[in-house]
This record gives sequence, structure tokens and C-alpha cells, in this order.
Amino acid sequence: MYGIINTAVEQLIVENYGNNTWLEIKKKAGVAEEQFVNMQPYDDKITYAMVGAAAEVLRLEAAEVLEKFGEYWILHTAKEGYGNLLDMGGNNLPDFLKNLNTLHFKVGSLMPNLVPPSFEVLELTSNSLLLVYTTKRIGLAPMVVGLIKGLGIRFNTPCNVLYLSDSSKEFSHHFKVSW
Ligand code: HEM
Repeated sequence: MYGIINTAVEQLIVENYGNNTWLEIKKKAGVAEEQFVNMQPYDDKITYAMVGAAAEVLRLEAAEVLEKFGEYWILHTAKEGYGNLLDMGGNNLPDFLKNLNTLHFKVGSLMPNLVPPSFEVLELTSNSLLLVYTTKRIGLAPMVVGLIKGLGIRFNTPCNVLYLSDSSKEFSHHFKVSW
């Protein structure tokens, strides 16, 4: 994944748990880089190793680390670095979720090696929808829960996110979002 993701994991840990904890996690994950270059692609193994090491050191489940990361990404990383892109994505939660593919398409013009996820909004009502997340990567569904909750905070629309797991379709995940 692009370095910006790894940098954001580092910032989440430094801001919430301090620099010494980050150094411990970095060592455990075998991260050799002094600093990640945001616009450079890195092997996904590095990101997964960082999440695994963070879970061990912080005594959390990997899913909890991923969920925290998703929320942090919306409320800090994307907001501070890509505010314009977020602003263009929509003014409310359902509209924004409908525009996620366009958003990543735009990100792809800045980051040509991007391997983006794709999303589809189904069953939209006045207070709920079904979000389908399709990915080439495994294990990141908990991050989507955090991302949606972060968007709920961004739009003052506190929401419940229910992961309707379906192990027979591990690259396609369904979430019921209600607000
Ligand atoms: C301006 C805001 C955003 C930027 C700049 C951005 C950028 C990125 C980047 C660089 C990656 C890594 C993919 C790669 O390097 O190949 C990624 C992955 C991902 N993004 Fe975004 N993103 C943004 C907003 C969002 C939002 C709002 C969501 C909400 C659901 C989201 C969901 C995801 C997910 C789930 C992945 C994991 C990739 C996978 O499953 O393969 N992103 N994004």
C-alpha cells in the first residue's frame, strides 16, 4: 500500500500511545524504513506486520486496531491531507458512501499504482443502507467499520455499523449501516 497508509498507522500510534510504544511496534514488525514516503508504494506485508505488532503490543485484537485506524484515517489523515477530496465526496453520509469509487478513482490519478477497493450502496432508505465492499486484500473489513463510523462523526450522523459476515465471499463484504 502507499506509504501514506503506513505513515497514518505510525501517527495514530504516536499520538495515542507515545513514541516509545511506536518504536517497540516498529521493531516487532521488522520495519526497516526510517520514515515512509507517502507517495511511494510499499509491500502490503509491511502494513499487515505493523497492525499485527500493534495488536500484540497494545493487547488488542487486530480487528480493534484496524477499526481505530479507519476512524483515525477519516478524522485526521484524510481531513488534514485530502480535505478537498473529502469535501467533493458529498455533504451527508449516504451521498458520500455512494461516491467512494469516484473518490478512489481521483486518488488513483495521484497514485498510479493504487489497488483501490470498490463499494456499492444498496437498499437505501431514509435511515439505513447496505454497503458492499469488494477488495483484492484480505482481513480489512474491520477497517471499513471504523471508516464508516468516522464518516458518521464527520457528518454529525452517529451510526450503527453491522458487519454481515459471509465467509464464502471473503473478497466481498456486506455492512448494514443505520442512523
Ligand atoms: C481523501 C480520502 C481518501 C484517500 C486519499 C484514500 C486513499 C487510499 C489509499 C492510498 C489506499 C491504499 C491502497 C493502495 O495503496 O493500493 C486506500 C485504501 C482503502 N480505502 Fe481509501 N482513501 C480515502 C478515503 C476513503 C474512505 C472515505 C473510505 C471509506 C470506506 C476508504 C476506504 C478504503 C479501504 C477499505 C481501503 C483498503 C484497500 C483494500 O481493501 O484493498 N477510503 N485508500
